Amino acid sequence: MNATNKLTPSSLRDAFGHFPTGVVAIAAEVSGVRVGLAASTFVPVSLDPPLVSFCVQNTSETWPKLKDLPMLGISVLGEAHDEAARTLAAKTGDRFAGLETVSNDSGAVFIKGTGLWLESAIEQLVVAGDHTIVVLRVTELTVDAEIAPIVFHRSAFRRLTPH
Ligand SMILES: Cc1cc2nc3c(=O)[nH]c(=O)nc-3n(C[C@H](O)[C@H](O)[C@H](O)COP(=O)(O)O)c2cc1C
Repeated sequence: MNATNKLTPSSLRDAFGHFPTGVVAIAAEVSGVRVGLAASTFVPVSLDPPLVSFCVQNTSETWPKLKDLPMLGISVLGEAHDEAARTLAAKTGDRFAGLETVSNDSGAVFIKGTGLWLESAIEQLVVAGDHTIVVLRVTELTVDAEIAPIVFHRSAFRRLTPH
C-alpha cells in the first residue's frame, strides 16, 4: 500500500472511486414529465422479500420529486450509456435527451437498451450522514442478457467487453 491519505470528504470521494460499480437510472413520471437521476450506489439487498437499495444525497433537488411516488423505475445502464449517465446527472437541460424511455402504467420510467429493469416501490428510508439509504421493494423485473453493463471506476466509464 502507498501512503495513508488525509481523511476529508474530497479524499474519501476519490477513495470510494476505487470501488468499481454499475450505474443505474432511477426515474418516474411526475405529472406526465420524466424525472430521474443517475446513481452508482445501487446495491441488491434481499431475495425474500425482494429488496434493493441506493443512496441519495440529502441535497438532491430531484429526490423530493421522486420520494412520494408509488413506483420508481431502475434501469441498469449499458456500456453504450457513458454519455447518458452524465446527461442523467446534469444540473441543467433535459436529463433524458437522446434516450428512449418506456413508461409503465404505474409511472415508473425505464431506459431502453439497458440490461435490467426493476420496477420498485420505496420501502424504507434510512438517513446516513449526508446521504439517505433508500430501500426499495422490487415488484417486476425485465432482463436483457445481451446488453453488457457500463462500469464506473475512478470517475471514468469502462467496459467489461473489449471493442
Ligand atoms: C456516474 C454517476 C453516479 C452518481 N451516483 C449518485 C448516487 O449514487 N446518489 C446520488 O444522490 N447522486 C448520484 N449522482 C448524481 C446525480 O445523478 C445528480 O447529479 C444529483 O442528484 C444532482 O442533481 P439533483 O440536485 O437534481 O438531484 C451520480 C452521478 C453520476 C454521473
